[in-house]
Amino acid sequence: MRSGGSSPQCKVVVLISGSGSNLQALIDSIASGDSPAQISAVISNRADAYGLQRAQAAGIATLVLDHKQFEGREAFDAALAAAIDAYQPQLVVLAGFMRILSAGFVRHYQGRLLNIHPSLLPKYKGLHTHQRALDAGDREHGCSVHFVTEELDGGPLVVQAVVAIAADDSADTLAQRVHGAEHQIYPLAVRWFAEGRVQLHEQGATLDGQLLPASGQVLHYADS
Ligand code: GAR
Repeated sequence: MRSGGSSPQCKVVVLISGSGSNLQALIDSIASGDSPAQISAVISNRADAYGLQRAQAAGIATLVLDHKQFEGREAFDAALAAAIDAYQPQLVVLAGFMRILSAGFVRHYQGRLLNIHPSLLPKYKGLHTHQRALDAGDREHGCSVHFVTEELDGGPLVVQAVVAIAADDSADTLAQRVHGAEHQIYPLAVRWFAEGRVQLHEQGATLDGQLLPASGQVLHYADS
């Protein structure tokens, strides 16, 4: 586990499957000098993921590992771990990486694997989170950054952004605002980790040595 914020750099490998707008938010935040994180590589399980182009445009190494070329989850995850470990990252960031990871993979990266999920966890694990929040008549929705554990979408929370649901919201309009909030909190969580401020302990996630509440740090996202 990292300690202290004196280390100038925290090497990060980002895993994606699609558009990579969260990856872009991380690239932008690092480029603005806001974060001691440095993205060493972007790995996608899909060759057509647009995020690969974003990475290349930023001069970041990219790699495609197509899960369909492997005999099962364990074999793919072993190859993925080998590809990641070649970069010796301090942190692995799941940014829209739409694969369930094996227990062995998750254990290997314990305390240095973050994910972002488009709901206020523990609500709405899995898919179609925006529609499910609307169907439930919720007044608030949002997104969460959490350490990844063996429980799907279930690890200790670092930060959540709360987004108010408007009466006329559709799943699409809501998704757009939640995405905007994701782009705020993921760079923040990665910066906290890179600065050594956020860590995973047995009791849960800590920020500056203090155990975070079950919800993580909660921010209210004001749409502009
Ligand atoms: C994001 O909304 C992220 O929260 C979600 O995939 C999207 C990726 O968008 N992740 C999950 O649902 C994981 N359970 P992006 O490719 O534009 O960053």
